[in-house]
Amino acid sequence: MKPVMVAVGTRPEIIKMAPIIRALKRNRIPSVFVHCGQHYDYNMSQQFIEELELPAPDYAHQLKTCSQGAQTAQIIIRMERLLKKTDPATVLVEGDTNGVLATALAAVKCGIRVGHVEAGLRSFDLHMPEEHNRRLTDHISTYLFAPTRAAENNLKQENVWGDIYVTGNTVIDAVMQHMPIAQKKSRIMETVNFKKFILATAHRAENVDDLAVLKNFMQAFAEAPMPVVCPLHPRTRKRLRQNSLYRKISQFKNIQILPPLGYLDFLVLMKHCELIITDSGGVQEEATAPNIRKPVLVARLSTERPEAAEAGFSHVVGTSKEKIVNMIRNVLTRQRSLPQKSPYGEGNAADKIVEILKSKIPF
Ligand code: UD1
Ligand code: UDP
Repeated sequence: MKPVMVAVGTRPEIIKMAPIIRALKRNRIPSVFVHCGQHYDYNMSQQFIEELELPAPDYAHQLKTCSQGAQTAQIIIRMERLLKKTDPATVLVEGDTNGVLATALAAVKCGIRVGHVEAGLRSFDLHMPEEHNRRLTDHISTYLFAPTRAAENNLKQENVWGDIYVTGNTVIDAVMQHMPIAQKKSRIMETVNFKKFILATAHRAENVDDLAVLKNFMQAFAEAPMPVVCPLHPRTRKRLRQNSLYRKISQFKNIQILPPLGYLDFLVLMKHCELIITDSGGVQEEATAPNIRKPVLVARLSTERPEAAEAGFSHVVGTSKEKIVNMIRNVLTRQRSLPQKSPYGEGNAADKIVEILKSKIPF
């Protein structure tokens, strides 16, 4: 019996694949769990495998920090070797990272089918490396697991070859499965300096690699009418350090910088904050989960998650300091009630995906 390969490489992929790994196990479907090595720090990779109580990866690669192209190429070479060795029935990839595109390409070169979890998202912004990765992956996948009808429509409009299934997003499964554990185990609130706070994350290359935008964000956080708690992604920390801004920012009274947090701590911060400011994809979705339901300012020019905006959870505010600060004031004073339901599903996306795989692949 050939296994299903579940490939991950970055923090959000581990979180969003966790419910699928569990569903495969519940259904006694043989699987191979692979970490392609795109993220490598303990607090960006292994920490999540431990916290989410996933099995240790059967194979874990290690990559050196390098350019986007070299990173993609290195993953293709390693994954091709591994795919030949393990000969899976299908490879599941999730999202839009370089590791996702590289793994999907390696699989099709070996004649192995690809299942793309979170297929069909489009920002229509070709400056983003993720937009290329997700488009290309969708066009070489056999099974396209679209989280929403809007994502399905994007895929239909592009006439993708594979079969499309609307399943919801496994991020909601992950939040539902882990929030009760997080509320029991996390001690993060003991370390937060403020009673009421805004939670902020930023890591998109087009934002934090642009010094003007990076400065806008930090100025906006410093001037916000409520203190800002900011767990820093390593890309952002690196850019702040390179520009000699890190120490200065750490001394601002209105900003509390934290290291990249574990998932349980981050869930608790989302639960307790008044508002989220982010350029993260996953965080835009999580904020809509029934047990979080927080307003989000998307500090970007576009989003591939329009459902959250249409449902009233998020607002795309751009990257200028003035717009961000004005919108913070606006949202904090308006306090609109948010929908009870998430546009990203009910927390059963992983079961739906595994049921589809069972009907397609002879296990
Ligand atoms: C990547 C994905 C992005 C995703 C994000 C999740 C691409 C093009 N981007 O962005 O879509 O939202 O992961 O967090 O695939 N670094 C460390 N330690 C780590 C990982 C990264 O120090 O464990 C630093 C390194 O300096 C590295 C930089 O962050 O060069 C960027 O890492 P990379 O994986 O290339 O991109 P992310 O910004 O993490
Ligand atoms: N997250 C976390 N700790 C943090 C910041 C984020 O566990 O300090 C989680 C968050 O809950 C979400 C995911 O990481 O599930 C989002 O990852 P990221 O923003 O790096 O990537 P994106 O979703 O934009 O691809």
